[in-house]
Amino acid sequence: MTCVMAIANQKGGVGKTTTAINLGAALAAKGKRVLLVDCDAQGNASSGLGVRVANADATLYGFLRHDVPAPLQQPMDSLPLWVLPSNPTLAAAEWELAVQSGGETVLAHKMDGIRQDFDVVLLDCPPSLGLLTLNSLCAARSVLIPLQCEYFAMEGLTLLLETIRKIRMRWNPELRVQGIVLTMFDRRNNLCHQVAMEVRRHLGGRVLKTMIPRNVRLSECPSHGLPITVYDKHSAGARAYMALADELLETEHCGG
Ligand SMILES: Nc1ncnc2c1ncn2[C@@H]1O[C@H](COP(=O)(O)OP(=O)(O)O)[C@@H](O)[C@H]1O
Ligand SMILES: [Mg+2]
Repeated sequence: MTCVMAIANQKGGVGKTTTAINLGAALAAKGKRVLLVDCDAQGNASSGLGVRVANADATLYGFLRHDVPAPLQQPMDSLPLWVLPSNPTLAAAEWELAVQSGGETVLAHKMDGIRQDFDVVLLDCPPSLGLLTLNSLCAARSVLIPLQCEYFAMEGLTLLLETIRKIRMRWNPELRVQGIVLTMFDRRNNLCHQVAMEVRRHLGGRVLKTMIPRNVRLSECPSHGLPITVYDKHSAGARAYMALADELLETEHCGG
């Protein structure tokens, strides 16, 4: 069965897009057929893989709003990784979906037609709890929550977990939290260690073993349009995302 995972946190800059791109590429490097759906109008998951689209019909916006086939792109011939790209036109979908009845489950229904072609579908959410995030959480079976190792890391997490609970009750009973992944961990920084300990104390088993280190190669690779596994496969960032892929594949939900 396809593993459909939303990567969500309403906080911006916590590593959602970096995780979507590089976890996607790591899973693809392990032979999984991966689709990355860029659900953010900023289009960072698309441009970070070198995909830039001007025509709105060739983006997620066209796919959600018009009767067009899924406009998928495969950025690298050698990697079984496809992107359903976005550009700023997606911002209009936020209010257009709001005035449409059943507007929160449009993506879930559209995904019915393409999900089965992939082993893993990753949904890169925008930094809000608006309708595009709601659509992603209705289309997903699980949520991966990146949490930045900084002082206010857990701020907003209660609201996110509460939102997930409400979505489970109202629209998507199967939705579960896949795990919380600590990002931008700097082992020379005491505060990072304290935050990691605090998060594990509060959230225990929900926190994944793999931590993503702060790694300059990870911040460089989007400007080259390449995932870390291609840009610098020996970097600490690449090794961490390969380990995260292994950890997720070991769970009953994503394995097989
Ligand atoms: N592990 C990391 N090490 C170094 N820089 C990172 C790391 N993760 C993310 N970044 C950088 O932090 C910024 C925000 O990350 P991003 O993935 O875009 O967050 P979000 O999608 O949650 O807004 C980007 O400039 C990105 O390159
Ligand atoms: Mg992002």
